[in-house]
Amino acid sequence: MDLEHVSDDFTRVLYTEADIERRLQELGAQIDQDYDGKELLLIGVLNGAVMVMADLSRAMNSHCHMDWMAISSYGSGTKSSGVVRILKDLNTDISERHVLVVEDIIDTGLTLSYLLSNLASRGPASLEIMTMFRKPEALENRVDVRYVGFDIPNEFVVGYGLDFGGRYRNLKGVATLAPHVYS
Ligand code: IMP
Repeated sequence: MDLEHVSDDFTRVLYTEADIERRLQELGAQIDQDYDGKELLLIGVLNGAVMVMADLSRAMNSHCHMDWMAISSYGSGTKSSGVVRILKDLNTDISERHVLVVEDIIDTGLTLSYLLSNLASRGPASLEIMTMFRKPEALENRVDVRYVGFDIPNEFVVGYGLDFGGRYRNLKGVATLAPHVYS
């Protein structure tokens, strides 16, 4: 879905499809360089990371494998609590593998902290994180993220995998919602 089709729903467009593509090309090249000679396993966190996974993996020029996890984070409204349940586990044994977790957005980092300790206990050769978007609270909580697409303000955003009530995931860019949509 193009941003202009639903522009009345937004107060501000943060990133267009072109901005996102440009940044992913940079990150893909960086990842190729950092993992030179190693075969990477990308782990996408459903549902939000579908778009990032598809575009990041294609921005890379080295072989990579892909697997998925689905987790549900219990929270009130738009905030997560860090209490996480695994809805779908990996199909892959990650021991001795080089793992890069691919996330859509890190807000508090609570969801990710749980996921990381769970994955670390499975003995990967290395374990790093890539996120397309990161909010300021994640920085305060010192979540160690190796690759960040964009640091964004502490606002609720939609598009490029990020939803509000299940909608807007298929939006090509990322925007902040207008109050009339959520009130
Ligand atoms: P955290 O545990 O606070 O880091 O929450 C991360 C999860 O909250 C993400 O994977 C999203 O599902 C959701 N989330 C956080 N901020 C936003 C947002 O601005 N828009 C849409 N979803 C968000």
